[in-house]
Amino acid sequence: MDTKIIRIDEQHIDMALIEEAGEVIKAGGLVAFPTETVYGLGGDALNPLSSEKIYKAKGRPSDNPLIVHIADMECLEKIVREIPDSAYQLAEKFWPGPLTMILYKADIVPCETTGGLDTVAVRMPVHRVARELIRAAGGYVAAPSANRSGRPSPTVARYVTEDMDGRIDMIIDGGDVEIGLESTIVDLTSRQPTVLRPGYITRKMLNQVLSGVEEDVTLMRDDSGQAPKAPGMKYRHYAPKGELTVVSGESGRVIEYINARLYEQKQQNKKTGVIGTDGSVGKYHADVCKSVGNREDEAGIARELYRVLREFDDEEAEVIYAEAFDTAGIGQAIMNRLLKAAGYKVVYV
Ligand code: TXA
Ligand code: MG
Repeated sequence: MDTKIIRIDEQHIDMALIEEAGEVIKAGGLVAFPTETVYGLGGDALNPLSSEKIYKAKGRPSDNPLIVHIADMECLEKIVREIPDSAYQLAEKFWPGPLTMILYKADIVPCETTGGLDTVAVRMPVHRVARELIRAAGGYVAAPSANRSGRPSPTVARYVTEDMDGRIDMIIDGGDVEIGLESTIVDLTSRQPTVLRPGYITRKMLNQVLSGVEEDVTLMRDDSGQAPKAPGMKYRHYAPKGELTVVSGESGRVIEYINARLYEQKQQNKKTGVIGTDGSVGKYHADVCKSVGNREDEAGIARELYRVLREFDDEEAEVIYAEAFDTAGIGQAIMNRLLKAAGYKVVYV
């Protein structure tokens, strides 16, 4: 299949191109597009064949449900059985934006889209290209992140092309994304609202709107003996091809520990890498050292993390060490993704 790549600027949207892309989705095709979090791989959420195509293009297990993207509040009523007050309250505060809500699905949403579940994940993105595309496509766009299954989510169109060229109909290049990590997922079907995936909208922010927001116990550890409530969170994700270990502790000790391990790995002729920060990156003796940014600027780190993970693949690093991050604020989302990328391999020094 030939993949058509078009460029649409969020500030000057070419509606003719949006219409063209919308028609592709309406006809059952797939279009990758920018959102404020990461690039999505969009298909018609109400067409089971489109969802099947999405799973195939990503190489994704079909028990891992898709998020349905909408652009207008009226559309929510059509795809969920009932809208609890909590959903209206969260929508009022955080939509459009990087928040996904899990609600009971209406019959119109095919099981292929929800991975066989009775619930559906819904998000209203704020990115203008995404919103116009959703409308042009008929209002309901199923979109997982536009990466091949298991790879870091794409934050620039170049990485979408790397993973999806020849597998989908169209890619809309809308430049760099703003946030860089996927949306926060909150489940509104359990007894208490529960965060299933941390993101830019933190539990603290959710708690300012609803009280008693809980957190899936599996978010930051894999020894709870429980399966994550978001099916996708059980897979090893976001992973670079090299073996990644996260090292947590006081900065000086972390640097010392990592340098000792790097020395050992080099003795074995392994190509080594380090994911550090601006203040530390010069102190490591790895073949490839990369900074994800300044520790003071967590939003910047969130934006850079996936790009840096992908760059280690380009460098063919075999063994990689990463510094750990604080888990307050968006730091929790950063650490959640880093831990998953490392298969939860963490060393405390
Ligand atoms: O920011 C985002 O959310 C991006 C952009 C493109 O909008 N999308 C995204 O989709 O991250 P995806 O498919 O890569 O991740 C969806 C996550 C998976 O972990 C999946 O298991 C979970 O949402 N999920 C979807 N439907 C669910 C449901 N009904 N119940 C529980 N978890 C669900
Ligand atoms: Mg994904």
